[in-house]
Amino acid sequence: MAVGVFDSGLGGLTVLEAVRKTLPDVPFVYFADSKHAPYGVRDANDIFDLTTAATERLWAAGCDLVILACNTASAAALRRMQESFVPRDKRVLGVFVPLIEALTERQWGDNSPPREVAVQHVALFATPATVRSRAFQRELAFRAIGVDVEAQACGGLVDAIEEGDMILAEALVRSHVDALKRKMPMPQAAILGCTHYPLMQDIFQDALGPEVTVYSQASLVAASLSDYLARHPDMYGPGKDSAFLTTGDPRKVSVHATQFLRHPITFTSA
Ligand code: DGL
Repeated sequence: MAVGVFDSGLGGLTVLEAVRKTLPDVPFVYFADSKHAPYGVRDANDIFDLTTAATERLWAAGCDLVILACNTASAAALRRMQESFVPRDKRVLGVFVPLIEALTERQWGDNSPPREVAVQHVALFATPATVRSRAFQRELAFRAIGVDVEAQACGGLVDAIEEGDMILAEALVRSHVDALKRKMPMPQAAILGCTHYPLMQDIFQDALGPEVTVYSQASLVAASLSDYLARHPDMYGPGKDSAFLTTGDPRKVSVHATQFLRHPITFTSA
């Protein structure tokens, strides 16, 4: 009954931690494409090719349902995958939908005209590829009116986190928040639109100030996944065992994952 969770690297572990709390009996196979991280500086074709290869590996591990716990892959490749790549007996879901549902206070399939929502000034922190895709702004505009989104591409931050360089990562968060505030001095809400960024959530919150609500994608995705699986129990795959797979150096990836999540995690070669 295994479910697959994919990210370019360590970021999707923030989503995995939350979904494991909600679904403690489900085995999860986690795939970190560490060799090819970061995805955020790649073009859409490249991201599509890498994400489909990883998804096939998770299908081979007995996971019929794969969660793209990566905003960059969700923004740049998911729609094309669903249109041309995913067979009828498999599913691939992204991390965008639950976030948009929470911000716009409505279900994804609700096609009523856009309406006003509680937040009007939203800061989006994401990778260069996610910002360039404008996927977040597009989906929000379908559903909500009067929401001003200012996006900040956080160049370098995923690399620093993957390398475990927390001093550089903190400096980058503070400089990206400063850059955002020069464009939008008083955001009401901030979206950490990259699953790596919750690993730096305290620094984001500190730099933004206590009055800014920081949206946590991990808990939203966890709630949405358990709801999906309750409605689609046939999407549990035949896999039985949990695993952590990486295309990078398993020893190095295990050390950094353990450092971030503060409990031992052992990756093996994908
Ligand atoms: N965790 C990925 C995301 O949510 C990081 C992308 C990257 O590798 O740049 O966007």
